Amino acid sequence: MAPNSSPRRVGVLGFGRLGQSLVSHLLSQGPDLGLELVFVWNRNPDRMAGLVPPSLQLQNLAELGERHPDLVVEVAHPKITQEFGGGILQHADLLVGSPSALADASTEQQLLEASGRWGHSVFVARGALWGTEDIARLDAAGGLQSLRVTMSTHPAGFRLEGPLAQVSCSAPRTVLYEGPVRGLCPLAPRNSNTMAAAALAAPSLGFDGVIGVLVADLSLADMHVVEVELRGPPGPSGQSFAVRTRRENPAQPGAVTGSATVTAFWRSVLGCCQLPSRPGIQLC
Ligand SMILES: NC(=O)c1ccc[n+]([C@@H]2O[C@H](COP(=O)([O-])OP(=O)(O)OC[C@H]3O[C@@H](n4cnc5c(N)ncnc54)[C@H](O)[C@@H]3O)[C@@H](O)[C@H]2O)c1
Repeated sequence: MAPNSSPRRVGVLGFGRLGQSLVSHLLSQGPDLGLELVFVWNRNPDRMAGLVPPSLQLQNLAELGERHPDLVVEVAHPKITQEFGGGILQHADLLVGSPSALADASTEQQLLEASGRWGHSVFVARGALWGTEDIARLDAAGGLQSLRVTMSTHPAGFRLEGPLAQVSCSAPRTVLYEGPVRGLCPLAPRNSNTMAAAALAAPSLGFDGVIGVLVADLSLADMHVVEVELRGPPGPSGQSFAVRTRRENPAQPGAVTGSATVTAFWRSVLGCCQLPSRPGIQLC
């Protein structure tokens, strides 16, 4: 499947639920698919013991260039993309697994500059966003007037910061935030990635125009629900084109990533390995 005859050398940053799954896939299926795992880095290296061959454990993130990766996959935390993304692009393409990092305008600018300077791609994993291509096509055709993404789950699945972390979620259903995605990402950096992917799929609206809604729902102990609602401009009859999707994804209680999203990430890794490396942001 690899477009080149030599294997694509892949490094993984983060060894939580997503990182462990990707590493396992890369070790078991990578060689047949033309993919070679060249390093795994985790903030706490002890978590890799017995699971990642010692030669593949990277102790110092600043030394990743010495492993000569073609692609670095970030599945740790938006802060890792914000702090190291520009430097990684000097060496390799970057697959951003925590796109809420790009809600910070200076991070987006920095990544775009580094991407252009070094000729490497910033791939963004679509994660839990259903219909990514359809949204992007409608946006490119000028047919998108509004886009709203609602993420609902049990409060144990949230990792909230700042004022949102103080909100009581004792009612059956609590709307924690409703507004531009840019404002939500710093408050819920690990629970706003789907909305961030939507903002990147629809650049005409972007982080300031796409509306994100975060809902704590006590009935959703083992499920993440993502609803996407979009509307086009009114036509001559006054009616608008409109789409609504609802994605119900089983999830372990308290997990930030649902089961189907883990599969979607592996498909994103495979997908971006087939895309040409070129400057700019590409959803995959
Ligand atoms: N794009 C999407 O739709 C989508 C969907 C699910 C998860 N994600 C994101 O992917 C990332 C990984 O998800 P996961 O389910 O594997 O999470 P996880 O909590 O299971 O694992 C995260 C890993 O990153 C490490 N980590 C946490 N905070 C860190 C920090 N500040 N600096 C360095 N390392 C840190 C942890 O030690 C852990 O190894 C998260 O940022 C998550 O929000 C994105």
